[in-house]
Amino acid sequence: MIRYIDDLQLTGKRVFIRVDFNVPLEGRRVTDDTRIREALPTIRRALEMGGKVILASHLGRPKGADPKLSTVLVAEKLAELLGGKHEVIHADDCVGDNVKKQVNDLKAGQVLLLENLRFHKEEEANDEAFARELAALADVYVNDAFGTAHRAHASTAGMVPFVKEKAAGLLMRKEIEYLGDKVLRNPQKPFVAILGGSKVSDKIKVIESLLPKVDALLVGGAMAYTFLKAQGIEVGKSRVEEGDKLALAAKLLDTAKRLKTPLVLPIDHIVCADPDGKGPVRETPDQVVPADMMGLDIGPKTRAMYTQRIRDAKTVVWNGPMGRFEVDKFAEGTRSVAAAMAINKDAVTVIGGGDSAAAVEQMGYADKMSHVSTGGGASLEFLEGQPLPGIKALETK
Ligand code: 3PG
Repeated sequence: MIRYIDDLQLTGKRVFIRVDFNVPLEGRRVTDDTRIREALPTIRRALEMGGKVILASHLGRPKGADPKLSTVLVAEKLAELLGGKHEVIHADDCVGDNVKKQVNDLKAGQVLLLENLRFHKEEEANDEAFARELAALADVYVNDAFGTAHRAHASTAGMVPFVKEKAAGLLMRKEIEYLGDKVLRNPQKPFVAILGGSKVSDKIKVIESLLPKVDALLVGGAMAYTFLKAQGIEVGKSRVEEGDKLALAAKLLDTAKRLKTPLVLPIDHIVCADPDGKGPVRETPDQVVPADMMGLDIGPKTRAMYTQRIRDAKTVVWNGPMGRFEVDKFAEGTRSVAAAMAINKDAVTVIGGGDSAAAVEQMGYADKMSHVSTGGGASLEFLEGQPLPGIKALETK
């Protein structure tokens, strides 16, 4: 069983909230603040409930302290997003006497954001002494960092047994509700999954986990070419995983056949000799990619077929783009999947994070989906059916 923040009594307590503020930066600018915005409901709730709010996150993958990856930039963004209603104090470390003093001095309505947890190598090493130091700052532990739930680090797992009370935050609850209850455990049928991206090898476990549950699994992106080649279809210069990955793709096709679940591959493509679209771009009449060309997006017949499947579904989950959508000439497949999901108001529509989340955001469809996951690796591992350490640590007997 997992308790949620609303189940706790927070008045006057030191509430340590593990958030995922691992946001993209360009110089001193946060270029996408989605993860910060998505944590606001939990932060506001903890403040309303009278807690002394301490926020902790990692940012990037620093090797030791690195001023370019200081959470100070995030503190500024957070203060702005809180509408200036709450003072956000930045601590220049995440453990130590100074931080303890800052925690003790916190006044109602103030928020303390700790420095990047990964400035200490003990965070990723899940070092017990470090975990205990973090735990010493807290009366209550709340985890709202779904994006980091697949990591067994000191702040996501190690410190939890050393804090008296623990709970999941509101974002964590939403992620578990959609990816867990509405997709994996209790999907309304027909249930369609769409998987794209470049490598079959990254998606093997997700495919194996979803095949027995879905009514159809639609494939796009470069990984489609590994599946096509495994069936002996000419894929020209398309990106393909060779060797044992071809055998693996063939095995997954066999599994789908045995389960009688359609594993649907593109029936036409958008091709070009150059991955950046320099030179003529053509549609193929069928599944075959000409010898001197690369498949870079699904073609119009495939788009129509996938759109129809999505339109008829009651649950749709999507992870991975349908083509090289960063190049506008190859974005139509990805756009058509996003649009079909956005239009289907009768279905639960879930975007499994990473590139597809970035795509729906960029194309303006994010607020039309039932849920856009804030996890990249975490949502993929969740959909694989793996227990995530950050969620497991919250479970009580
Ligand atoms: C993410 O962005 O996927 C999470 O914040 C985890 O970051 P990591 O891959 O560096 O552990």
